[in-house]
Amino acid sequence: MLVAGNWKMNLDLAAARQLTSGVVAAVGSTHNVDVAICPTFVNLDAMYSIMHGSGIRLGAQTMHEADSGAYTGEISASMLRAVGCHYVILGHSERRQFFGETDDGVSRKAQQARRHRLTPIVCVGEVLEQRESGEQNKVVESQVRKSLSDVSIDNGSELVLAYEPVWAIGTGKTASPEQVAEMHSHIRSILCDLYGNAKGDDVLILYGGSVKPSNAEDLFARENVDGGLIGGASLKADDFAAIVDAARR
Ligand code: PGA
Repeated sequence: MLVAGNWKMNLDLAAARQLTSGVVAAVGSTHNVDVAICPTFVNLDAMYSIMHGSGIRLGAQTMHEADSGAYTGEISASMLRAVGCHYVILGHSERRQFFGETDDGVSRKAQQARRHRLTPIVCVGEVLEQRESGEQNKVVESQVRKSLSDVSIDNGSELVLAYEPVWAIGTGKTASPEQVAEMHSHIRSILCDLYGNAKGDDVLILYGGSVKPSNAEDLFARENVDGGLIGGASLKADDFAAIVDAARR
C-alpha cells in the first residue's frame, strides 16, 4: 500500500515546514504502508531535511523529460534525485488540462524518470462526459497504454499508477468503491498485458479523487486498490495520518 499526498500549488515555506513536521509526528511509523508527500519544487529540499529518517518519502509533482538545457522554468530528473525525491507524479489531470500534457509526453517523462531511478506515479482518469457516455474503460485503457509506451521496468515496484477520475478531483464527489474496483481491475489486466503477470501484479494502483478519512477504508478494502493519491485531505496532518491508518488496516 502507498498513500501519497499531492500538495499541488499550496503552502509557502513556513506553512510547508509546519505541515511536514505535523505529518511526521501524526503518521509515526511507516510500518506496513509506504507514505509520501509531494510538495512544490521550491520546498522539496527543505522538506527532505525535516522528513529524513522518518521513512516518509519525497515526491515531485512533475518534471521535464530532458537531461538539462535551455528549458526556462523547468526541472530535471537528476535535480529531483539530488534533493532526495523517490517519486514523481506524471500526467496529473491538472497538468493535462492546464499545461497541455499529453500521453506521449507523459511516456517520455516516465522513461526519463526511470533512467534516473525515480518511481513515476502515472495518473490517468476520464472526465465526467466520458463517464456519462460509458467510455471510461476505453479512455483509461488508451491513456495507460500510451502513457506507458516504451516505459520498461525490472520489477513492479518501479512504477505506480494512479486512477483519478477527473470529476472526482477536488469536487468532494468520490467514485463509488464499486466503480473504483471495476476500473482498477481493468487497469490491472492492462498492466499484466504490458509487463507480464509477475510484474503487472506488483505495480501499485492508487485511487485519487476526494479521498478523506471517512471514505478511505472502504476504498482501500477493494481488490486492486493499493492506496491513494490524496489532494485536499493531505493538507491537514491529522486527516492525512487517518488515511494512512486506513491503508494500514
Ligand atoms: P483531491 O485531489 O484529493 O483534492 O480530490 C486528488 C488529486 O488531484 O491528486
